Amino acid sequence: MNFAPRIQNLRPEGAYRVMGLAQELEREGRNIVHLEIGQPDFSTFNAISEEGKHAIDAGFTRYNPSEGFGDLREAIARFSEKRGIRARPSQVAVGPGAKPLLLFPLLALLENGDEVLYPDPGFPSYKADIEIAGGVPIPVPLVETASFSFDLQALADRITPRTKLLILNSPANPTGGVIPESDLRAIAALAQKHDFYVLSDEIYARLVYDSGNAPSIYALPGMEDRVIIVDGFSKSYAMTGWRLGYAILPDALAEKVGLLLTHAVGCTAGFTQRAGIVALEQCDAEVAEIVSQYQERRDYFVGALNRLPGIRCQNPEGAFYAFPNVSDLGIPSTTLAERLLNEAGVACLSGTDFGEFGEGYLRFSYANSMDQLREAIERIERFLSETDR
Ligand SMILES: Cc1ncc(COP(=O)(O)O)c(C=O)c1O
Repeated sequence: MNFAPRIQNLRPEGAYRVMGLAQELEREGRNIVHLEIGQPDFSTFNAISEEGKHAIDAGFTRYNPSEGFGDLREAIARFSEKRGIRARPSQVAVGPGAKPLLLFPLLALLENGDEVLYPDPGFPSYKADIEIAGGVPIPVPLVETASFSFDLQALADRITPRTKLLILNSPANPTGGVIPESDLRAIAALAQKHDFYVLSDEIYARLVYDSGNAPSIYALPGMEDRVIIVDGFSKSYAMTGWRLGYAILPDALAEKVGLLLTHAVGCTAGFTQRAGIVALEQCDAEVAEIVSQYQERRDYFVGALNRLPGIRCQNPEGAFYAFPNVSDLGIPSTTLAERLLNEAGVACLSGTDFGEFGEGYLRFSYANSMDQLREAIERIERFLSETDR
């Protein structure tokens, strides 16, 4: 079969591929510690599930407006204001997960050959979505010792007259890095000078540690007309399978993304949206509790990684990923990830699953119990002591 060039580079996501391999080993009787998938190990908070069930019984099971229920869009606008993001409900587009809201603004904006800058290592859908939308992906390397923010000079060097958009992700997958406000200011100045859009994926914005916060570039002066915020419920509220996300966009773009939602997905499940309102308005205590648990796990896991020979790991300020530098071990990242799975029974991802600049790193999701994290460290330690590198 001949496929369109726009999909020819699509590859499976590393996390799903490794999860499949790990499950195969489990079927053969092996015991595997799962640190590969970026999914909270907590159940969806009770109040949210109850509202979802109630909404099904109440009949929220039918088609509804493509861009989302008005009261959910209002709740999102109110919630965002707490982070300094002032937006009207008309600027909010709701969709089935954050993923379609990464793709649709690109489909709406990119013309063939437009260049899009994106973080590398970064969430794999960025490159895929840019290509699907007809753009040219231009990876920008991140700097390990600078909270995995951009090297601002490297970013500036990659801007050309064809640069249409820059993707930011803070806190980031896979690094856990948070972009400092001073860098956001410099990036905003570049966007204004060279007239490009910024798509800011803020899906981990509530998962920040040490009482810090992840500032949004949208909140900086003069940026609201060129910034698209993408956010969602999967990570903060343990709602990965409910499929609920949203974007905040300039009004004209919100209208076009609404049309793409109409023609591509129709609408987002009504009962999921009702549950989303409860998540935003009634679950601050639960979010605070999981943030404190993730922080405890991070402190243990990153501390323990740093005590292993040949491994050094920055302290991730947000999300639930550790991204250790393993280059001193002298084993290519993909080989090391494969060997940890097959020989040690620890499922993790190679940094190269997130782009070429991920070589020399591994990604572990620490959204797992302390017992499993301790077990993983013991297994990695044993593997390293037995391995003749
Ligand atoms: C950075 C980032 N953005 C977006 C998503 C997609 O989230 P959703 O489940 O809402 O589609 C993920 C999920 O892994 C992610 O890590």
